[in-house]
Formats: sequence, structure tokens, C-alpha cells
Amino acid sequence: MMDQQKQGTPWEHGLLRRDFLKTGLAAGAGLAMSQVTPLRAQSSGKEDPIRLAIIGTGSQGRVLLDAAANIPNLEWKAVCDVWNYSRRYGQGVLRKMGHQVNAYEDYREMLDKEPDLDAVIVASPDFWHAPHTIACLEAGKHVYCEKLMSNSLEDARDMVLASRETGNLLQIGHQRRSNPRYHFARDKILKEAELLGRITVVNGQWNRSASEDIGWPKKYELDSEFLAKYGYKDMHQFRNWRWFKALGGGPISDLGAHQIDVFSWFLQGDPVAVMADGGVDYYDNHEWQDNVMAIYTFNTPKGVARAFYQVQTTTSAGGGYFEYFMGDEGALKMSENPKYTKIFRENNAPDWGEWLSKGYIMQEGETTASYKPWKKQEAAQSDTVDVRETAALSAWDMPVALDKAIHQPHLENFFDAIRHGTPLTCPGEEGYKSAAIVLKVNEAMAAAKQLEFKPEDFVV
Ligand SMILES: NC(=O)c1ccc[n+]([C@@H]2O[C@H](COP(=O)([O-])OP(=O)(O)OC[C@H]3O[C@@H](n4cnc5c(N)ncnc54)[C@H](O)[C@@H]3O)[C@@H](O)[C@H]2O)c1
Repeated sequence: MMDQQKQGTPWEHGLLRRDFLKTGLAAGAGLAMSQVTPLRAQSSGKEDPIRLAIIGTGSQGRVLLDAAANIPNLEWKAVCDVWNYSRRYGQGVLRKMGHQVNAYEDYREMLDKEPDLDAVIVASPDFWHAPHTIACLEAGKHVYCEKLMSNSLEDARDMVLASRETGNLLQIGHQRRSNPRYHFARDKILKEAELLGRITVVNGQWNRSASEDIGWPKKYELDSEFLAKYGYKDMHQFRNWRWFKALGGGPISDLGAHQIDVFSWFLQGDPVAVMADGGVDYYDNHEWQDNVMAIYTFNTPKGVARAFYQVQTTTSAGGGYFEYFMGDEGALKMSENPKYTKIFRENNAPDWGEWLSKGYIMQEGETTASYKPWKKQEAAQSDTVDVRETAALSAWDMPVALDKAIHQPHLENFFDAIRHGTPLTCPGEEGYKSAAIVLKVNEAMAAAKQLEFKPEDFVV
């Protein structure tokens, strides 16, 4: 791992955190955080397009290009990817959409030759996020960087500092933070209506079937000398970087990051401890665990909550992906996939008629007129058997749907922040906190014991 880090080139590229603090940002270090300058507005009142580039047009880069295709007034100027296969694909997609884009292998050359860019989307592998993001921020661009912010917390910290010190925006790609369904669940169902009562347990998961490692078209194979320049040992590692310790954070960061981020966001409190176990149980050529189970202890405004998270590489019958919040008056099964989402009312909870009439919950065939209020049940007598119903809790839906690609609202929030100063829904500070919470699982597995968080662990 060390060898790879030495030849592993984010650090070779002169962007080691100590370097950037000494050089480019030294001048800005004493400045107060500057205000983001709004984009140029034409005299007609029409706004100029936001001029964009993307670094990394692999699978997620392409998803983001598709999601952005439905957002007006964007002008794509450049694509950067070290792999000619991805680079040509990204350039081709954007050209088909009518953008005249230049293509680059090297992000520094792109930043030199494209001085007019307003913003850059970073969708490279995690270990490249810090060098790419910091170089773009220093070059005066706003950055949307994919999650996990970085596989190194020190690098993530430097990204936040670079954003603060340059005064440029940094949005981290936890897209649920801009999803109106998640906002409704958090702000209306949990916070305002308090339909779950006191949440004591959370159960989140993303399980999927074991599958072959990712391959590549032989025609586009890169040789090991070229790959070493960018920190990869060979083509297998280049394509399957997320499973290697110097390059990614494993499935807990790849998949778990999304949902563990939702835990603290919804619970409105930070974890105080985590324990975890897992192993490389299936693959024989991976470094990170393919099966991970973690238990967090959270302090919430209403008391302690325990949150279990599992990411399993096993069978597609593993139940899919969701975050399940359980309280003494109800439960919310939340997922980016609406088919998994449901709100359950505990039989003994106060009546929910008010929330039906206010439109906070809905149920097929149920209207305010047809609704029959629930009566709170009598407590069981001490000398009788408690026969309260445990099955078939009443199940409700949320009245909010997302009618666009799941990443689109998060990109829109980023562009609105550039244009109008709208607050980012996942600024670097939040991404950092999330990375600190997620990466501690890997530490807890290595230490084989429960580890505690300190409040300062979440703050840059
Ligand atoms: N928000 C989400 O839902 C979501 C989903 C999937 C992936 N992601 C994140 O997106 C990022 C990319 O993941 P992916 O699945 O697309 O990986 P990928 O391997 O499919 O794509 C990565 C691309 O980056 C290129 N690349 C590698 N090193 C580079 C460098 N130094 N400079 C320029 N280009 C480089 C590769 O050639 C490849 O085209 C990761 O951070 C991942 O965590 C986010």
C-alpha cells in the first residue's frame, strides 16, 4: 500500500496537502471567506450559461452527464479522463447533445487551457478527489465532487480548507440531501409531525448479489507503465479501484456512505461510538471487506438511538437498499427507490387523522371523509394476557414523488448556489462529517472493538 502511495500519483503530482497549504493557498489563508461572485447577467436580464467541465467520465460521470442534460443553460466545455475509452465516450455524449467539448488526459492541462470554466464536476475514483478538487478550487472554479469525499480524512479536510480559503463552492455528491422525498420525510414526517415518536433504532442496508469484477474492452487496455503514472497497479485494479485500500474506502464507503449520511441527517444528532465486523469472504483478489456490519450509537435530541448498517455481497434476495427508522409510535422505511418506502403507524400511537387531512400521509382508497380515527388502546391489565395486535400495522405513503433523475436535484442545487447564492445542501463541511462517520467503520473493523467519536472529529 505504501509503495503504491509513493508511486500513486495524486501525491506525486505535487498536490500533497502540505504542498498546497504552503503554496497556492498561502496567500488566501489570512483572508476571510469571500462571497461567491454571482455569474454574469446579460443586459437583457438573461443569465449566461454556466461553463462546465467534468473529470472522470466512467460510470458515475456518465450518470451525471445524463442528469445534467435536463438542466437548462449549461455549456459543457471540456472532458478530462485518463482513459481514452472513457474520454471519447464522454466527449461523444456531450457532442451529441450539441456541446463543443475539448478532451484532456491531464486535469492540469485542462485547467490551463480552459480558463473560462465556471465549475468542474469531479467523478474520478475517491483517491483522486482531493488533488482534482483542490486544483480546480485553486484555479477559481466551483466544484461538485462525488462522494465519498475522499478515502483519506486528511485529504477531505484539505478540500474543505481549499474551498473556504478560495471562496469557491464545494458540493459533495450525497444526492439524497437534495431529494425532495428525503426532505419531506425528514422535515415533515419526522421533525414536524413527529410520527415516529421517539426513534430508538435505525436499520439500514444495501445488499446485492456477488458478481464478477468489472472488465474492460481489450482494445482499450492500458499498459502498466501508463497506469502507474496515475496510481494503479494494473488494469484490474484500475477498473476495480473501489476494492483497494489506497484507492477507495470499500463497500461501506461506496454504498454505505449514502445511507449512513442519512442516519445523522435524519436523527439530527451525531454518533458517539461505532463497532463493526466484516471480512473478505467472497473474493480472493480484493483488499476491502465485501461483507460489513456496523452498529453506531447516536445521541439524538430525544435520547440514545442505535443504528445498524449492513452492506453484504451475497444474494440479490438480500432485501435491497433502505434506511429504516423505528420509533415508539411508528416506523419509516425510507429509500431512494420509492417502491421500498413506507410509513407504519404503531397501533398504540396517537391518531394520524390530522396528518392525513394536512396531506402529510396518504393511503390508497383513504380520504379524510372515509377515515376512521384510531382510539388509543387501553393498557393491558396486569392479570390479563396482552393481546395487542402485532401484525398488519397501518401502512402509509408519502405524498411526494421525484419526477426527475435522482442526481438532478443535487446538481440543480449546485448550479443555483453558483447563480443565486442558494445554500448548498451538502457543502464540504457536511461531506467531511459524513466521511469521518463512515471511515471510522473501517478503523473499528481493524481494531476489532468499539471506537468512540469526539465532537471535534466532525469539524474542520
Ligand atoms: N452518487 C452516487 O450515487 C455514485 C454512484 C457511483 C459512483 N459514485 C462515485 O463516483 C466516482 C466515480 O465512480 P465510478 O463508479 O464512475 O468509477 P469508474 O471507475 O467507472 O470511473 C472512473 C473514471 O475516472 C477515470 N480516472 C481514473 N483516474 C483518473 C485521473 N487521475 N484523472 C482523470 N480521470 C481518471 C477512469 O478512467 C474512469 O473513466 C467515485 O467517487 C464513486 O464513489 C457516486
